[in-house]
Amino acid sequence: MKPLSEKFDLARREALAALDQATDSATVEQLRIDYLGRRGAIPALFREMGGLSPEQRPVVGQVANQAKTEIQAAVEEALQRLSDTATTATLDLNLDPTMPGRRRRVGKKHPVVQVMDEAIDIFRRMGFIVADGPDLETEYHNFDALNTPTDHPSRDRQDTFYLADGRLLRTQTSPVQIRVMESQEPPLRIVCPGRCFRRDTPDATHSMNFHQIEGLYVDRQVSLADLKATMTVFAHELLGSEVSVRFRPHFFPFTEPSLEYDFSCIMCGGKGCRVCKYSGWLEISGAGMVDPAVFQAVGYDPEKWTGYAFGMGIERIAMIRHAIGDIRMLYENDLRFLAQF
Ligand code: DAH
Repeated sequence: MKPLSEKFDLARREALAALDQATDSATVEQLRIDYLGRRGAIPALFREMGGLSPEQRPVVGQVANQAKTEIQAAVEEALQRLSDTATTATLDLNLDPTMPGRRRRVGKKHPVVQVMDEAIDIFRRMGFIVADGPDLETEYHNFDALNTPTDHPSRDRQDTFYLADGRLLRTQTSPVQIRVMESQEPPLRIVCPGRCFRRDTPDATHSMNFHQIEGLYVDRQVSLADLKATMTVFAHELLGSEVSVRFRPHFFPFTEPSLEYDFSCIMCGGKGCRVCKYSGWLEISGAGMVDPAVFQAVGYDPEKWTGYAFGMGIERIAMIRHAIGDIRMLYENDLRFLAQF
């Protein structure tokens, strides 16, 4: 038979090992009962001490007391350890406040959408209402009603995408003018932002798909001075108050007189640079006074109503604003490029 002191020692080692392994407080409590409880292993061994000789008793007693206190301490420690992890798990406090934060990737508007939204916003503040029209248009709305002669080169299959049913992908946002005037009585003041399609060979300044914003103002006694004032405010709001606006005579079938308007170059302030091809001016787009033939097509009385219209390319403005040299970069969806704006 093993000496009693060895039995105490064995029980102590077993208990400490088991407590060390315990992963929940219920197990710890069970171990406490098994070893230290009234019917546990340690009290049982204490009872055996009754049979020891008076010389052996203090020697074994020391081993016995040590076993008991060590097991008690180990129970305390295990409970402490497990209650720590329990709190941490429930409160998710298992964090290191010195760690760098998690960076959220924030999306951005595409530079074309940014210009579009800003342009809409500026015109809205001047009393324009946003109108919408379909990308798939009839030849009537895209050309005929806009006073475009049947032999006009822009109607050519080389320039316009036609569908088998005779419809086409609109080449400009101007047909929205027609749709609005067909359905509303004057006076009106609208802008129509949207996609346009042309059968162009893509290069640094041409894309088969691009965006325009169209404007139309119809009222009594509207004049070119109103158009110039509106465009000047627009230029100042969008690009800065130092920008000036100039008109040049031009031709469009749906306006008379027609003109193109330029903004002074925002890169060189009008002195002349590579961006403005040393002219000091940037071509923005076309405009003019609505041709009486267009009013007739929609049933407005040209003797009573006058109006101006304009249409400008959004990509062009985005390119000027950010000094982007190639329109194709706007459509490659390269995040390293797009994230810069
Ligand atoms: N639609 C023309 C284009 O695509 C631009 C334009 C010129 C629009 C004159 C107009 C306008 O409303 O009056 O080039």
